[in-house]
Amino acid sequence: METKIRIALQKKGRLNEDSMKLFKEAGIKFNVGSGKLVASSPGFPIEVLFLRDDDIPQTVANGVADIGIVGENEMYEKGYDVNVSRKLGFGKCRLSLAIPKAQEYFDLNFFDGKKIATSYPNILKNFFNEQGIKADIHEIAGSVEIAPGIGLAEAIFDIVSSGSTLVANRLKEVEVAMQSEAVLIAKKNMESEKQALLDEIIFRFNAVQTANSNKYVLLNAPNDKVDDIVRILPGMKSPTVLPLADKNWSSIHTVIKEKEFWDVIGKLKDYGAEGILIIPIEKMIL
Ligand code: PRP
Ligand code: ZN
Repeated sequence: METKIRIALQKKGRLNEDSMKLFKEAGIKFNVGSGKLVASSPGFPIEVLFLRDDDIPQTVANGVADIGIVGENEMYEKGYDVNVSRKLGFGKCRLSLAIPKAQEYFDLNFFDGKKIATSYPNILKNFFNEQGIKADIHEIAGSVEIAPGIGLAEAIFDIVSSGSTLVANRLKEVEVAMQSEAVLIAKKNMESEKQALLDEIIFRFNAVQTANSNKYVLLNAPNDKVDDIVRILPGMKSPTVLPLADKNWSSIHTVIKEKEFWDVIGKLKDYGAEGILIIPIEKMIL
């Protein structure tokens, strides 16, 4: 029987959509029916378990799934022994302390002796230990943001992404304890056939994410400025220079990081570059 790798993904919520999109761009599609908790893929030996994010670290640590995608927040909170194969660059958020908007705040001593509601008691305990704060930590499973309003706690420690949950509950973020993003995790001691499948998945993720941060650039330049332009283009390799029908002009093609492109655009125009095209790259293998 063909070896399949089993992955745990978030059933719904902040990481689900981006995880599905990344697999799709990597050429791995899942047969997901509505409400189905297990899915397979027509073109890749993979099986998906859709779980609550809180359950993903344990499911990977005990080998029920081989790999998983989860936020670093859940991974550190649960503390299971898993390998981090790769950071994924999405699902970015922070774990922060927040207090009622009207409260005065100077520093962390505010939290000494205070009652704080959170779904991340371990991360908060470690943070307070490092900072020498003694507080009364109350673990609650969800809807942490309403705790101060109903008199259950004087502050909260929770995920902040856009910040709109805090605003809606008249809270303000006063300390950031940790930054988090989605990570691809893997169980320890992976069987070699499964490790090969994981390597293939990582290879494809790399190709997708490298392509997304790079752009293919085409521009026309007067011949006497080609050398100057080639010198300032931070390309992968030497750019391609092709003659145009107009004998005094050339076309320059290269691949550059989108970020770096914005740094040189002004200079390119100064050198007389025209017809600049910036084209997305679908996949890129370095
Ligand atoms: C988190 C957190 C807040 C919200 C913050 O919950 O508990 O409710 O996101 O995001 P914002 O700053 O963009 O408003 P999440 O949706 O991750 O659900 P979970 O608690 O089940 O993981
Ligand atoms: Zn959750």
